[in-house]
Amino acid sequence: MTTTDRETTRYYELTRKVFDILAPYYDTFNVFLRGVRRKAADLARAERGSKVLDVACGTGKQAFAFAAEGHDVTGIDITRAMLEVAVRKNKRPNLRFEEGDATRLPYGDESFDVTTISFALHDMPRSIQERVVQEISRVVKADGCVVIVDYALPKNRVGRFLVYHLVKLYEGDYYVKFIHSDLEALLAHSGIRITEECTALAGAVRMIRGVRNTRKKRTSPKSARKKKTRT
Ligand SMILES: C[S@@+](CC[C@H](N)C(=O)[O-])C[C@H]1O[C@@H](n2cnc3c(N)ncnc32)[C@H](O)[C@@H]1O
Repeated sequence: MTTTDRETTRYYELTRKVFDILAPYYDTFNVFLRGVRRKAADLARAERGSKVLDVACGTGKQAFAFAAEGHDVTGIDITRAMLEVAVRKNKRPNLRFEEGDATRLPYGDESFDVTTISFALHDMPRSIQERVVQEISRVVKADGCVVIVDYALPKNRVGRFLVYHLVKLYEGDYYVKFIHSDLEALLAHSGIRITEECTALAGAVRMIRGVRNTRKKRTSPKSARKKKTRT
């Protein structure tokens, strides 16, 4: 078994165990994020009725915010207990929840206008983050957008110190690695370019809007010359 295999096995075991236990209490811990959810849904600036995929949706808080804006929303998560909470709350015909792994999304390429992931990347080792972001990028349409919401650190030194040590108390070691990692590089690796960014909760939360880079057709020097003579 390689180190990455061991890390992957540990991550899946930990995720299922932790979120099975947390599921009944998760929404209570998250009440202070209500404004963040709305702001994140607005950041997509999607037309009403857009197809939205909320990856690692948990109990569905972010998915509900997108559905409230009239979009056609699917939430997907690996932990059944989290999904059960989401399904129990759901009375919206434009919102559904599915069980599945974000590293292998069961959707075709370019199936969604918006893909989003909130407060989940910080819970994953880098190798899993890379696969998840690749999938988020694969299933979003070329003219669609990606919205990422996760922890950040405030700009001022005291704020940084306080937020870091507070969040570290209840998040695991993946958080420590995540918060010091290069999120831009992670996204760029999957062809996602950041077009807009904002913060919430005094800089403790970061919201990113990104688009997928479309591959430019390379023009051979020969055809470029042809084009030139034609004009
Ligand atoms: C901290 S919760 C965030 C839930 C929700 N996105 C929110 O903003 O409240 C992280 C969620 O990621 C899910 N998750 C972790 N790894 C996953 C994977 N590989 N595929 C799908 N869901 C995953 C967990 O089951 C959990 O529900």
